[in-house]
Amino acid sequence: MKTIGDVAVEGRCVLVRADLNVPLDNGRVADDGRIRASLPTLTELTGRGARVVVCAHLGRPGGHEDLRYSLAPVAARLAQLLGREVSFPGDITGQAARAAIAASGPGDVVMLENLRFNQAETSKDDMSRGYFADELASPADLYVADGFGAMHRRHASVYDVPLRMISVAGYLVQAEVTALRRLTAEIRRPYVVVLGGAKVADKFDAFGSLIARADRILVGGAMAFPFLAARGLKTGTSLLEASQVDAAARYLERAAPGQIELPSDLVVAAGISAEAPHRVVAADAIPADQMGLDIGPESAARFAAAVGTAGTVFWNGPMGVFELAPFAAGTRAVGQAMTGGGAFTVVGGGDTGAAIRALGFDERAFGHVSTGGGASLEFIQGRTLPGLAALDAS
Ligand code: 3PG
Ligand code: MG
Repeated sequence: MKTIGDVAVEGRCVLVRADLNVPLDNGRVADDGRIRASLPTLTELTGRGARVVVCAHLGRPGGHEDLRYSLAPVAARLAQLLGREVSFPGDITGQAARAAIAASGPGDVVMLENLRFNQAETSKDDMSRGYFADELASPADLYVADGFGAMHRRHASVYDVPLRMISVAGYLVQAEVTALRRLTAEIRRPYVVVLGGAKVADKFDAFGSLIARADRILVGGAMAFPFLAARGLKTGTSLLEASQVDAAARYLERAAPGQIELPSDLVVAAGISAEAPHRVVAADAIPADQMGLDIGPESAARFAAAVGTAGTVFWNGPMGVFELAPFAAGTRAVGQAMTGGGAFTVVGGGDTGAAIRALGFDERAFGHVSTGGGASLEFIQGRTLPGLAALDAS
């Protein structure tokens, strides 16, 4: 894999696709893990006198400008961490961005506004993405792919731009690919996969190939509800996409007995609030007016035991609403089991990374902390990520 170490960058305009999709809290960056993960590449490029243009997305604004999703707070945090000014013209390919890029000198950094303010970024139409990609590419001499967490998206900035120009990987992408390859070759068994989180639809089709690869799949977070519903249990007001119940039933049928493990108890409350009264109930006794917000203590102990005796563990997605103290115990238990055992452990995802940092874990206690959730999950299934395919082709 060619990286920025292999190319001349001095005085050149370098377009870096980063994944700076970080959680915000009242307009402030709540966890800067992904920004920090982008620093090795950005520091090296500025240090070597490149004119750096950073592009990224934030959230899912739906193809139009929505300032709640502006990258402005991210640009400010990046400036602090880099210890240099980051110019933020506030548009993507318009006049202001062009002017800021034209005015930049060696070592300067310009950050474009949220790519997803333009509907072409995520369009299914090749022409529309291609046109946008041409505009993004036009001021740049070189493209650097460093947004590992978005490389599973066939989006203009991830896929179409690198097909159009000289492109190399950044250090984050290189490190991610090197670490995650260990989960695609010979795997030390038992191989335990822990899945949770809220983006259920995105990750659901992973079960098909995980059943063929993993010895045990432990399911928590919102991911558990379609499976509990498929077993005929009532899930109260829990986050549940009805369309996934049939698929969950098919996965349960296809898996070996006990291969997919579901929570047997849950922490429930009437709403997502730390103040709402909460209690532990059996998974088959979720009250009609309550929602499951964490796995219960019995499930947490069972999951921790499975993780503790594993040879390899891949974990994507928190077990509950870890941001609120009453619903953080399941996620903490899985984290403790991962750092306490002898397995090669990989944690993946923006939220999962944020969770382990928020709960006070030392990242160095894990084998690898991936910035990508969906991306790492697709990678370990042996799928070709569009962003990596485009790099190979360029
Ligand atoms: C992520 O947070 O998983 C990546 O930044 C990709 O975002 P997306 O799931 O909205 O495409
Ligand atoms: Mg994701």
